[in-house]
Amino acid sequence: TAHAALFDLDGVIVDTAVHHFAAWRETAAELGFALADQDEELLKGVGRMDALRIVLGIGGVEVDDATAERLAAEKNARYVEAIASITPADMLPGALDCLEALRAQGVRTALGSASRNAPMILDGLGIRDLFDAVIDGSVVTEAKPHPRVFLAGAEALGVAPADCVVFEDAIAGVRAAKAGGMLAVGIGDPAVLTEADAVIPGLHAVDALASHGITFAGAP
Ligand code: G6P
Ligand code: MG
Repeated sequence: TAHAALFDLDGVIVDTAVHHFAAWRETAAELGFALADQDEELLKGVGRMDALRIVLGIGGVEVDDATAERLAAEKNARYVEAIASITPADMLPGALDCLEALRAQGVRTALGSASRNAPMILDGLGIRDLFDAVIDGSVVTEAKPHPRVFLAGAEALGVAPADCVVFEDAIAGVRAAKAGGMLAVGIGDPAVLTEADAVIPGLHAVDALASHGITFAGAP
């Protein structure tokens, strides 16, 4: 029985993955190549500069450090513009109910996101108060699949990693959870998130986890 729930943000609580990918597609287009639909999976959960390196690798493009910084900043400006008008209506189905239900049971909650834009998104969604701790890309520099972001979340909650469940839509995030000794619940396609302990289509289906032996209760 888990006492804490750690949530990735993009693709788990809010559907921002589409905006990240659209912004990277423009970067690629400017550099003269196209990203394929399946490239989106590679960019999920990875920090901004790592994502840029993946994009450049796909195009076989090499740039100097200053250009890399500029390309990342321009991508972020496009992304920030896309999410600037985010509202509570943009939350993924079941996300709000899931957070509120867990907290009502006394389960501790943390956000574990690679995004430096996470605080702005939480404010736009009006859900900052639903997390006991927020660990984002400005707090932690080691990128998923490194477990640091989730280990820092567990530590902030005062809950042992073995008593934590992580909700993740990214392969890198599922790996980070497992590397941290936590249960990993994949959000999405079981054929993609093969290393997760259980996979559900979204937080609206969180009750199905009981049939996988994953249950929650307030910390003793
Ligand atoms: C999340 C997304 C990634 C994104 C990363 C960094 O993990 O899933 O696609 O690259 O955050 O986001 P940022 O907003 O800091 O560029
Ligand atoms: Mg994600």
